[in-house]
Amino acid sequence: MSADKMTDSWEKLDRLGADVSEKLNLRQAFADDPKRFDRFNVSLDDLFVDYSKNLISDDVMVALRELATAANVEGWRDRMFAGDRINVTENRAVLHTALRNLDGGSIEVDGEDVMPAIKDVLSRLKAFAARVHSGAWKGHTGKKITDVVNIGIGGSDLGPVMVNEALRPYHVDGIRCHFVSNVDGAHIVDTLKHLDAQTTLFIIASKTFTTDETLTNAYSARDWLIKALGDENAVAKHFVAVSTALEKVAAFGIDTENAFGFWDWVGGRYSLWSAIGLPIILAVGYDKFEELLRGAQAMDTHFKTAPLDANIPVTLALIGVWYRNVLGASSQAILPYDQHLSRLPAYLQQADMESNGKSVTRDGQPIAYETGPIIWGEPGTNGQHAFYQLIHQGTELIPVDFIVAAKALHPLSNHHDKLVANCFAQAEALMRGKTEAEVRDELAGGDLSPAEIDVLAPQKVFAGNKPSTMILYKQLDPFTLGRLVAMYEHKIFVQGIIWNVNSYDQWGVELGKQLAKELLPMVQGTENAGSRDASTAGLIKQMQSLRS
Ligand code: F6P
Repeated sequence: MSADKMTDSWEKLDRLGADVSEKLNLRQAFADDPKRFDRFNVSLDDLFVDYSKNLISDDVMVALRELATAANVEGWRDRMFAGDRINVTENRAVLHTALRNLDGGSIEVDGEDVMPAIKDVLSRLKAFAARVHSGAWKGHTGKKITDVVNIGIGGSDLGPVMVNEALRPYHVDGIRCHFVSNVDGAHIVDTLKHLDAQTTLFIIASKTFTTDETLTNAYSARDWLIKALGDENAVAKHFVAVSTALEKVAAFGIDTENAFGFWDWVGGRYSLWSAIGLPIILAVGYDKFEELLRGAQAMDTHFKTAPLDANIPVTLALIGVWYRNVLGASSQAILPYDQHLSRLPAYLQQADMESNGKSVTRDGQPIAYETGPIIWGEPGTNGQHAFYQLIHQGTELIPVDFIVAAKALHPLSNHHDKLVANCFAQAEALMRGKTEAEVRDELAGGDLSPAEIDVLAPQKVFAGNKPSTMILYKQLDPFTLGRLVAMYEHKIFVQGIIWNVNSYDQWGVELGKQLAKELLPMVQGTENAGSRDASTAGLIKQMQSLRS
């Protein structure tokens, strides 16, 4: 990376930022330039991204692309796809893209092609799912499996949860998937309450197989099963595992014949494409899972080959950097107008915030600029009746991604038309706003007095000029979902490169885990909490007195 060029680019962007803040009015920009929509969009087949309602100009986009070039985004991208160890703090390659490289050639890590092992695990997953679906895989008492419980957390949970919800219309009959992640016993107790141990299969999903929440839930599930079936040998037919640590799987008591591996170059939050996707395969069938992989593969190819100005992930990333670092936005809202994408914001919270929530550079220097934004959101139209008020009339600048399909996968087309109309209306309302003159015109037609109008008018003004990006595609099928998720993965990658952080480690999760281990005996009352700070010690004491 050229430090001078980076500095020049930032300085240019700062100047443009001052200019845009002072002068750019989106309503006016659309009125002045009938080609604005035609110029500010990028697409991949039916996947269409309209970014014309953002606070940008041609000069801004040019300067942002110069920044990407100065940061050597394309060079880093090629290193990632080639299997270089770009996760420097863990000395690992970053190769979730290899997991969907179904039609590509070999990819080497340390001189070894990873593709044969990937394909081998895929074919084992396919065969296993086929046995579960057909009933050839039987529970301990000879019954067919009807319920699958995935026990995992973070990346070993959120991806499959999100995808299984997104692909609900594709679920196969005869099998239900459940997810237990929280160490809060309520999660597993509530989940198991209505299940029959004879027909339940547990997937213990953990990259490291050391995660306390997952192991605690796994042991409780094991106890439940043995108690219900009265035989320890039942575990073999009711537990399978997904992990990179197969020796730890064996130590837990799961036959490694029933374990599916993946590799240290797959980050947890990038792992749904690996064997971590087993609950997806069981829910929708292997062929649909492969379509998901192929969608991601199509986005990978686009990301690798499209020039910067036609590149979807690059464009989204640069617009995000513009808001975060130049215009001062602290969050990014993800608002899918699709009930099936209800878990996408939560999934992207981990993907983005665990990746780019960093404050030192790759080589450990403190960072003096903003990095990853807060990611949040809910599906529309629900959000409209909850938090949109603040986006429209609050004091925060909140860039929004709207996500919507042209066609529904259900027969209620009148619902879908309303959904789409609401989605486009919100983007338009954010952009246009409503001036005081327009408000006063509207009120003048009613029965309010001029004095009452003076009081009410300012409340009803919408400042407008609020940015959004519209992500529109034909329908939410597995292929499109794969493209969408990979699109966000690469957006996060590009931003990480520009911010010069390692997007593939997550040291920030460690301290809490370590302290929870230390506090456990104090919470249990077997150790004195006197050594802790007054608040922590006081809380433990207070909690114990509430228990007694
Ligand atoms: O604590 C954070 C984290 O390490 C995530 O990065 C990861 O996805 C999650 O925990 C679960 O880890 P594992 O799959 O190893 O159980």
